[in-house]
Amino acid sequence: MAFHSTKTGQFAYFDTQLGRPDWSGRRVLDFGGNIGAFLAEAAGRVEPSLYWCVDVSRSAIEEGRRREPGAHWVFYDRYNPQFNPGGVRGLALPDLGSRFDYVLAYSVFTHTPDDETLELVDALRSMLTDDGILAFTFIDPGWAPPGEGQQPNVLWRLSSCSLGNATASPPVEAHVDAAVERAREAPWCAVVDQSLLFDASAPVGPCGRYDVLWSPDHARSLFPSAEVRPPAAPERQHCCLIGPKD
Ligand SMILES: C[S@@+](CC[C@H](N)C(=O)[O-])C[C@H]1O[C@@H](n2cnc3c(N)ncnc32)[C@H](O)[C@@H]1O
Repeated sequence: MAFHSTKTGQFAYFDTQLGRPDWSGRRVLDFGGNIGAFLAEAAGRVEPSLYWCVDVSRSAIEEGRRREPGAHWVFYDRYNPQFNPGGVRGLALPDLGSRFDYVLAYSVFTHTPDDETLELVDALRSMLTDDGILAFTFIDPGWAPPGEGQQPNVLWRLSSCSLGNATASPPVEAHVDAAVERAREAPWCAVVDQSLLFDASAPVGPCGRYDVLWSPDHARSLFPSAEVRPPAAPERQHCCLIGPKD
């Protein structure tokens, strides 16, 4: 599927979450980096020759390469229900022939099931240098930005797709409200097209939208050695920071 991200702010986000490191000479793997908005926004602070982008979207990788041919663009033909429904299920990560000071994943494990996330995080940690850091985002369904009237994340994710015929009649609305309330408190839930899913083990077939949401406690239970940080304004996504495998 041809999805070219229009999101900006990824460099600022990780720069903040990582404590404003000196990026010069650092090797960066932008996992699920799409067209490389991170690199563009870094504006020379990350050298293109030290930047790798791996993504399951062939079209995004081609576009990234067109924009910055001096960087490393790697198409990873792994199945994803939303972004690469024709891909290979369970395909192992390619050997990139390098270790990385930073492996970053902005809004990538917000689109993969937990068993796949665990597998990929394990593989990515093994690509870190001895003092390297893997930083990846997740979305807490119950979190809302400070201030009155702000939507919690689960409604933010649902806002571009209604829950079926949610407004058709009061009984359906009541059902939707209950589902949203349940999602706000849930350790795990997902928006699959126009439904909320609460069973993390349910297989998901090709679909137009697959957004996975975790509570911070769920993130800690998956990755006990990770540091879990709240969103850095103006973002809505939490961050997990984790070091190399022991
Ligand atoms: C919401 S987009 C975020 C893109 C980019 N990080 C950004 O912030 O603009 C999610 C990206 O993750 C990629 N993706 C999904 N599953 C993946 C996987 N298993 N391995 C690598 N990339 C994946 C998608 O193709 C897509 O480019």
